[in-house]
Parts: sequence; structure tokens; C-alpha cells
Amino acid sequence: MNHTEPIDIPVIAIDGPSASGKGTVAQLVADTLGFHYLDSGALYRVVAYATHQNNIDWNNATAVAACAKTLHIQFKHGEVYLNGTDISDQIRTEAMGKGASQVAVHAALRAALVDLQHSFRISPGLLADGRDMGTVIFPEAVLKIFLTASTETRAKRRYQQLLGKQQPADYEAILQDLKTRDARDKGRASAPLIMAEDAILLETDTLTITEAVHFILEKYQQKMCK
Ligand code: CDP
Repeated sequence: MNHTEPIDIPVIAIDGPSASGKGTVAQLVADTLGFHYLDSGALYRVVAYATHQNNIDWNNATAVAACAKTLHIQFKHGEVYLNGTDISDQIRTEAMGKGASQVAVHAALRAALVDLQHSFRISPGLLADGRDMGTVIFPEAVLKIFLTASTETRAKRRYQQLLGKQQPADYEAILQDLKTRDARDKGRASAPLIMAEDAILLETDTLTITEAVHFILEKYQQKMCK
């Protein structure tokens, strides 16, 4: 049998703050390369959802981590399943985004999710999207991108996104919420949001999605052709 060891399977890590457009860009890069896609933020959202359903306090690190270990999480065709039920819509709410950022501070939970994240490294390659993909989960990634934009640009994007989904949107509240989430992501002791030393900074304030995707594909090609 011709087995590909996980270590030979290329990983592209894209990290960055909320509402940077990371998810859309990452998915398009993965699609173009035919790579698998890990939306690690969705895992934290599922944990926020499941713990909420079980009346577990998001601040209770031990209970949150213990609950996470019992969950059967699957991604199928872009949808997220918990114990066999499609919960994609339920986890994509602003409330679960906030909950995800709260549970994500717990080191015990982050440790409980490591093996699951590694299991996404399947041939021909993986595009891993998150906050700590290049720093903690896949430090050996062949390409690391830190994708960001100013807080104001990101708030505008989130605002437009909510309007597009016919959901209530208040620009000032969104801006405030992003600042709170950024502070929590950057300030936590366990796997804080920081740019890996060997990551390439991609500021997308004045870039279209297509331009950002092209930039990453070009960098990937350069890395692989070295
Ligand atoms: O949609 P948004 O960018 O706000 O968030 P997300 O990517 O769905 O992730 C939800 C939350 O999970 C983030 O606010 C982070 O606090 C947390 N997260 C994390 O700590 N580590 C990751 N690798 C991915 C997400």
C-alpha cells in the first residue's frame, strides 16, 4: 500500500481576527487547490452551542472541556453536524460567536480539540482557518498567512453580511463587539491570537476577495516550487 504520512501532506494555515473575510478567502483557496478545509472556529461555536444546550456555564473550564470530549462533530458539504444533526444555522448566530470566543479561552478545551483538528490533515492537503493554526495546531504548515483588516473595515463587513442575511445590524454595537472579541482573543493565556514569526501578513482593507485569494495561491506556488 502506498500510504501518505500526515507529515507529507501540505497544510496552509490562515489565521486572523473576526470578520476579516478569512473564512471566504480560505474556502476559495481550498476549493481551488482541491484541499480539505478546517473551519476551526466552527468547532468552538459547536462547543458553545452544546454547552449552552446542557446549561453549562461558558466560564466553567472543566465542565466545558468535559462536555466537548463527548461531542461527535462532523463537517459534510460545508454543513456542521453535531451527533448526526445539522446545526449549521444554530452555530452561525452572533450569540454563538460570542460564546465561542468565551469558551475558547480555556486551555483544557483547546487541548481537547487538538486531535480532532489534526485529523483533518488528509491528502492532498489541508487549508486550516482559525486563530492558532500556524502557531499551535500546525506549526509546521508550509505556508502561514495572517489575514487581517482594520477594526472599522471588519465592522463594516460584518454589518453588510448581517444586512445581506436580513438580520438586525447595528454598526456601533458590532464595532464594540469586535473590539471586545479581539481583546479576548489576543489577551488569553492559551494560544492567543498572534502572528506566527514565519507568517506572511495580508492586510485586506483595500483588497477584493479575488485579490486576496490570488495572493495566497501565488505564495503557495512559490513555496512549493522552491
Ligand atoms: O466568525 P468569526 O471570525 O467571528 O469567528 P469564528 O472563526 O467562527 O470563531 C469563533 C471564535 O472561536 C473566535 O472569536 C475565537 O475566539 C475562537 N477561535 C479560537 O479561539 N481558535 C480558533 N482556532 C478558531 C476560533
